[in-house]
Amino acid sequence: MGDISISGELDRLKSESLAQIASAGSMDDVEKLRVFLLGRKGEITSRLKTLSSLSQEERPAAGAALNAVKNSIEEALSERASSMKKKEVTERLEREEFDVTLPGRPVGDGGFHPIGAVMDELIGIFQELGFSVVEGPEIETDEYNFQMLNFPDDHPARDMQDTFYVQNGARLLRTHTSPVQIHAMLKRKPPLSVIAPGRVYRCDSDITHSPVFHQLEGFHIAKDVNFGHLKGILELFIHRLYGKNTKLRFRPSFFPFTEPSAEVDVSCQICSGKGCRVCKGSGWLEILGAGMIDPNVLKAVGYDSEKWTGFAFGMGIERVAMLKYGIDDIRLLYENDIKFISQF
Ligand code: DAH
Repeated sequence: MGDISISGELDRLKSESLAQIASAGSMDDVEKLRVFLLGRKGEITSRLKTLSSLSQEERPAAGAALNAVKNSIEEALSERASSMKKKEVTERLEREEFDVTLPGRPVGDGGFHPIGAVMDELIGIFQELGFSVVEGPEIETDEYNFQMLNFPDDHPARDMQDTFYVQNGARLLRTHTSPVQIHAMLKRKPPLSVIAPGRVYRCDSDITHSPVFHQLEGFHIAKDVNFGHLKGILELFIHRLYGKNTKLRFRPSFFPFTEPSAEVDVSCQICSGKGCRVCKGSGWLEILGAGMIDPNVLKAVGYDSEKWTGFAFGMGIERVAMLKYGIDDIRLLYENDIKFISQF
């Protein structure tokens, strides 16, 4: 390395460097030169380091001279960098010329998701009948999902098989929308007409079961409510949903939170009750569960079960949608294939 006190050497370094910078042909070249001259081991940097070896008298002048060279190199580098950048942008714009008169790519029509569409339709029907919409949490306790709904401790629905437990069993993902009955009853006072739509979870998966699916719960509590009211409301509802010619059939059933309980079938939408593959030849399709609210449920929320009576019902949205649109595999509902969705 030359002695920086030799001003001729420094002048040469400066003029050579400026010439190299002036002939840099790209941003890349400019950056390489910056590293070569001003980088940690660069020409200028190394010379700056040798200043300490000079005597007290020599140092100020040598330092000033070197700094002046450094400043002019920095200035030249930044000027060159900005003109190279301008040049590169201009070149790219010329190269990437595009035809603004070309027609745009078509954006295909979307559609309502069948689950959302059916959900909205059901909510609309019940709102017209005077029901109000309530939502509840998807993460529940055993108390709300089971105990307060009168499930005995050893009821098979509590099995790990059906229920997703979280937080080491301290919480669970609701297996049905029925716990919203409890939330609503605790929050409000009878008389009550409530529907609760929402997502529910079960450890189950095949062509007709999904681990996450949707239900619509409904219940009505007032004085002197009887099974006839339940039948009337459900008939009105089914006729709105599937048309006036659809028949209903109530079969005795069991749910812990209703007594008596029923499963409700509708005449098959596909064959109008004659019997086909979808209804397995019976002419009937199961659509919902329902019943008179068990007095134990009313007692659990502190309602006087001598004074108040009520009915409740619950249905799977996916099932309603599959029957309405003739969809035979539940997984189609979750794949979000635009070709499938845009049919609705
Ligand atoms: N919670 C029940 C289920 O998930 C459905 C149900 C049946 C809800 C009867 C009700 C009812 O409110 O009365 O299978």
